Amino acid sequence: MDAHSDHVAFPDLHAAKAGEPSTLRQSLNGRWAFHLAQSVAARPQGFFATEYDMAEWGDIEVPGYMQLQGYGCNQYVNTQYPWDGVEELRPPHIPEANLVGSYLRDFSFEKLDGTGRVVLTFDGVETAFYVWLNGEFIGFSEDSFTPAHFDVTEQVRAGSNRLAVQVFQRSSASWIEDQDFWRATGIFRDVWIEQQPTLHVEDLFVKTDFNDDFSAAVLRLDLKLWGETAGATVDVFLADASGAQIAALSGLSAQAGMDLDLKVEAPDLWSAEKPTLYDLMLVVRDKDGAVIEAIPQRIGFRHFEIKDKLMLLNGKRIIFNGVNRHEFDAVRGRSVTYEQMLWDVRFCKQNNINAVRTSHYPNQSTWYRLCDEYGLYVIDEANLESHGSWMTDGKVDPRWPVPDSLPEWRDCVLDRAKSMLERDKNHASILIWSCGNESYGGKNIFDMSEFFRQRDPSRLVHYEGIFHDRRYNDTSDMESQMYTKPQDVEAYLTNDPQKPFILCEYMHAMGNSCGGFHLYTDLIDKYDLYQGGFIWDYIDQALAIDPDSGSRAVAYGGQFGDRPHDGEFCGDGIVTAWREPSTKVQEVKGLYQPFDLSPEAGGVSIRNKNLFVSSADYRLVYRLLLDGEEILSASLDTNVAAGDTAFIALDLPKATKAGEYVLQCSLCLKTSTLWADAGHEIAFGETVWCVEGDVKLDAPVPLTCQNGDINLGVETPHYRAMFSRVFGGLSSIKVDHSDASLEFILRPPRLVFWRALTDNDRGCQLGFDLAVWKSASHCYKRAGFEVDANSDEPSITHRFALPGLKIEPTVSYRVGRDGLIHVEADFAGAEDLPDLPIFGLEFTVPARLDRFRYYGLGPDENYIDRLRGARLGVFEKGVEDNVPAYLVPQECGNRVGVRWAEVTDEAGLGLRFASEGQPFEFSALPYTMMELDAAYSPEQLPAVTQTVVRIAARQMGVGGDDSWGAPVHDRYHIKSSEALSLKFSLCPIGV
Ligand code: GAL
Repeated sequence: MDAHSDHVAFPDLHAAKAGEPSTLRQSLNGRWAFHLAQSVAARPQGFFATEYDMAEWGDIEVPGYMQLQGYGCNQYVNTQYPWDGVEELRPPHIPEANLVGSYLRDFSFEKLDGTGRVVLTFDGVETAFYVWLNGEFIGFSEDSFTPAHFDVTEQVRAGSNRLAVQVFQRSSASWIEDQDFWRATGIFRDVWIEQQPTLHVEDLFVKTDFNDDFSAAVLRLDLKLWGETAGATVDVFLADASGAQIAALSGLSAQAGMDLDLKVEAPDLWSAEKPTLYDLMLVVRDKDGAVIEAIPQRIGFRHFEIKDKLMLLNGKRIIFNGVNRHEFDAVRGRSVTYEQMLWDVRFCKQNNINAVRTSHYPNQSTWYRLCDEYGLYVIDEANLESHGSWMTDGKVDPRWPVPDSLPEWRDCVLDRAKSMLERDKNHASILIWSCGNESYGGKNIFDMSEFFRQRDPSRLVHYEGIFHDRRYNDTSDMESQMYTKPQDVEAYLTNDPQKPFILCEYMHAMGNSCGGFHLYTDLIDKYDLYQGGFIWDYIDQALAIDPDSGSRAVAYGGQFGDRPHDGEFCGDGIVTAWREPSTKVQEVKGLYQPFDLSPEAGGVSIRNKNLFVSSADYRLVYRLLLDGEEILSASLDTNVAAGDTAFIALDLPKATKAGEYVLQCSLCLKTSTLWADAGHEIAFGETVWCVEGDVKLDAPVPLTCQNGDINLGVETPHYRAMFSRVFGGLSSIKVDHSDASLEFILRPPRLVFWRALTDNDRGCQLGFDLAVWKSASHCYKRAGFEVDANSDEPSITHRFALPGLKIEPTVSYRVGRDGLIHVEADFAGAEDLPDLPIFGLEFTVPARLDRFRYYGLGPDENYIDRLRGARLGVFEKGVEDNVPAYLVPQECGNRVGVRWAEVTDEAGLGLRFASEGQPFEFSALPYTMMELDAAYSPEQLPAVTQTVVRIAARQMGVGGDDSWGAPVHDRYHIKSSEALSLKFSLCPIGV
């Protein structure tokens, strides 16, 4: 049947509630009998006959994927086609190896009333399927991500029915469903059958038109009716958000096609900031006035356009603070549940994400309904990607691109555009239709874009693929690019741009990434035509290895034995496959915040970046910290209008006591909303200053020194330290505690010049370019030392030689009369050497010291290029919890701006590190950098035997422009010509 809007019909007015299940529909979800064949030739024949004996068959859950229920192997590939290297094929041919899933289900159709029409719907089946009902052939469908509706009025029976479906893993459609995802097969969305009455609203198209200042609107309805119109009537009611009826049309005589207008004064406009929805009710009555069908439809009044090269929502310049979202779950794959969608929409709202691109296919209808209600802008993307047909190994190589301008692909891609638009057109949240992803250029995709424009002039059309093929540049209304570096975005914007600009993909959040994100968000204020971007991407596409065991271990491409595969590239999310927010979210939330808060002496300046809402729904909470401890907390109401900036004076005590002060301001929800509880923080800002004062010195502690042949031993009233001439420095810190002597130093601290490579590092060959620093870290040796045992404060300094390098960093330890061990590591700087990943010292202490507390930036992991979302404070965490669930172990757990850090056991016994001079960078992990670097999945990490504490003068950023070559931005590199010095003190605590 033709594609149509996703409205839901109810049999009467009482039951008719938007979002509720209709009693006209019967779900066919559940257990189905199932048979898997390895090829088309081996599939069962004649199985759709009603007498077919399926006793020997297995069974399967619908909706769900075959491969995730033990039928066939999971396979992940990115751009290459999944049969590459197995079968040599060109479009439209399909592989011999082609799983065929045969599904059978007996059901009795309770709603059948012998009138009207019965329609069978499959909301999503990958990639192609045939359907039979009661032994009769019903039809065939492709396009995995839009519904297939079949009229089965003639075939359906009272009593028992047998539904048979055969699903093909590969079809000609596989050439245009080459998205970067797990290639999975099956009936993965709902199946249902519907009894439609004798007169049925087949299609509904809601449009909103406005006068110039949006003070009045006309709601236009295009209706298509099927069935007996003679004598029938249609009523239309419109109610506002409070339920009050504001417009109505009654007793209109029913026609096959109807155009209706309703005038609405002063409509409350829809936006993601304030997603006001109106309730439309369509009532179809028979000639006696009895209700045949009632259709509740939620409507948003909003206007989206390009004017003077700017994308405007309700007349204002819109910014997309977006994310790309695959429908995904670690256990269910793309067959996501309502609860998961709800979690996702709430997560986006809580973290200041205001837009979602449905990369790279139309999603379940429920998702758009949630976006309408909660307020998210949507780019709805057609199910089209043919990446492997025109790109090879990252290079544009259009030897046999599809669909290009080939006539044989035209209807099928246009049908995809049509199926998406017709289903989704009434969702206020959708602002932009996207022609698909990475399918090169050509006439066919241009024709898709023209179809969108003609059928729905109220939205814009997006297509990034013309970046590589400008033959049909008008395919896209906006200039959309992906992974363009910030400086290249600026080059577009300063070079006579003809279209507004968005990044449909940016900030490749693979592993430890999202560094330098602010270089993009900074462009928002600099260039009007820069209108935001969409992070790649929302959720790691990693699959549970053994979901039934309760284990959270996940696998990436190749780990199921799938060949070919594209490895860990499926894991680029800001949330894990289990929907745990990653540490990258801190930065996303910070940079996407709708208010800038800039505290300064006496107050805070609040800039409201919203287009439509004031700050009145939020309470301004402010806190004053002294050396990390809160000394004041208060709050007040504000009312800064959308687009305005205001200075709010704060009642603050005079900061006289010496120390470091931090004034922090937050805007927090006053009352609970659909998406967060009262108190939820939406925006944050802080400022730091110091008040000088006299330093009171404690009485000097007595020290006893033993200058042995090999070791320098120093005893203080609290601990005994030992420094080895041979092992290069600090070899022991012992304390007496509860009749035992405890040792804190498992191995002498080691200099580190290297970090465990991140996904981004591997992608840009950082290991190759900076390899000297890996051998330097691993293989340095002593070059000389000096001991001063006779002074008041004994000390030892070592010089180290680095393999192949003419540079000798030093590390010195001095036990002070303040009872502290003062550590200094110096790197003098050198010419002609590659940049340094890091310079610091790595301590190995007992695993018993399994937690840390620090005063620095947090609470989550941060790096010099990813700290805009972090704040100063005293934070604590378990050492093992400091390893994020990156699919491949890598550098992690770092904190910048650390003033002091304590690593202790449960009883508080451990070591304290305190900066002397510049704050340092700190991490405490259960693994060494070398152990992290060597493992290719978390399961390969060794059993925990130690806590590794790293104190660094500086570490380079993590980058994130992309993960296949983009370097960390220069300003976040460490030039090896620069001298670096690390100074801190160390002492045992808790004794
Ligand atoms: C883009 C593509 C995405 C994803 C990303 C890399 O080219 O559109 O689907 O593959 O690269 O992770």
